[in-house]
Amino acid sequence: MGVGLSAAAPLLQSFTTKENFVPVNFATGFDQQPLPYAYTALENVIDAMTMELHYSKHAAAYSKNVKDAAAAEKVDMTKPLEDVLANISKYSAKMRNNGGGHYNHEMFWQCMRPKRENNAPTGKLLAAIEKEFNSFDNFKKQFAEFGKNRFGSGWAWLYINKENLITIGSTVNQDNPLMDVAEIKGFPLLGLDVWEHAYYLKYQNRRADYIDAWWNVVNWDHVQQRLDSYKM
Ligand SMILES: [Fe+2]
Repeated sequence: MGVGLSAAAPLLQSFTTKENFVPVNFATGFDQQPLPYAYTALENVIDAMTMELHYSKHAAAYSKNVKDAAAAEKVDMTKPLEDVLANISKYSAKMRNNGGGHYNHEMFWQCMRPKRENNAPTGKLLAAIEKEFNSFDNFKKQFAEFGKNRFGSGWAWLYINKENLITIGSTVNQDNPLMDVAEIKGFPLLGLDVWEHAYYLKYQNRRADYIDAWWNVVNWDHVQQRLDSYKM
């Protein structure tokens, strides 16, 4: 079950139309974009050392490696990465791992901001979440379960599925809902990185504590913008 986003109906077909699959506002390039805040900006939730290593080493490597794969596999890098992800089954494992890794991290940085008290979505996004999950707290609980229960490395997602419903799920490794091979498919609104490299320095094995703290830095304005973009 999910919340119907009837205003988005014209875009439903876009899931099968490569050129229109992704809202233009959120088309992703192959180069790593600047971090939208300082490494220290999320302190008390995510420490600066983790942020620096995560952005400048892990995520930077995904960007470099997806460009290497794209060059080798004759991908036009002037076009959105989303075009490749939608057809990732036609490409190499290197493209899948690093294309997903690059996309997921570019999105992840945008999905966070400095800590706020009582951090929560508002407006239509909150209404949609409450309708689907009964309450924001219940949504957070169910989303966190996907993050905690993802064995090994992966991501938890809030996304719009092919039935145009807002829902949650998780993917393994660097897969994401845009991929034709993913366990869940749709347009991602919010992603949570549960790889150990995202939290181990501060939280060690306590992934659940990392997720609990992470809610304080979620950029709900960005999530709302992604939802609005999808409905355009
Ligand atoms: Fe990561």
